[in-house]
Amino acid sequence: TFVVIDNCIKCKYTDCVEVCPVDAFHEGPNFLVIDPDECIDCTLCEPECPINAIYPEDDVPAGQEALVALNAELAKSWPVITERKDAPADAGDWEGKPDKLALLER
Ligand code: SF4
Ligand code: F3S
Repeated sequence: TFVVIDNCIKCKYTDCVEVCPVDAFHEGPNFLVIDPDECIDCTLCEPECPINAIYPEDDVPAGQEALVALNAELAKSWPVITERKDAPADAGDWEGKPDKLALLER
């Protein structure tokens, strides 16, 4: 399965959601996650993210290992998102910022 890592938090560009053939993306207040029970490893979403926030679960960046379980957990309670929407107005200010997991809203 593929997972969304913490760089998506507060950026949430949503370019990724429209290409998913199985509607595996779920939306929270300031982050998206992928449902591992739906993802079929098609790889289509990975290049769509402009800030490289999507990785195969076996290849997440060092320090991001907890995001694998977090995607699975949050996908259970957040609604599916299939249509692109405007990113937060200040999304650009948050690209690549460290330790964004502390800013996650549930
Ligand atoms: Fe959807 Fe494919 Fe991305 Fe999995 S890898 S979340 S199936 S677009
Ligand atoms: Fe997040 Fe990138 Fe999708 S910022 S919403 S994973 S396009």
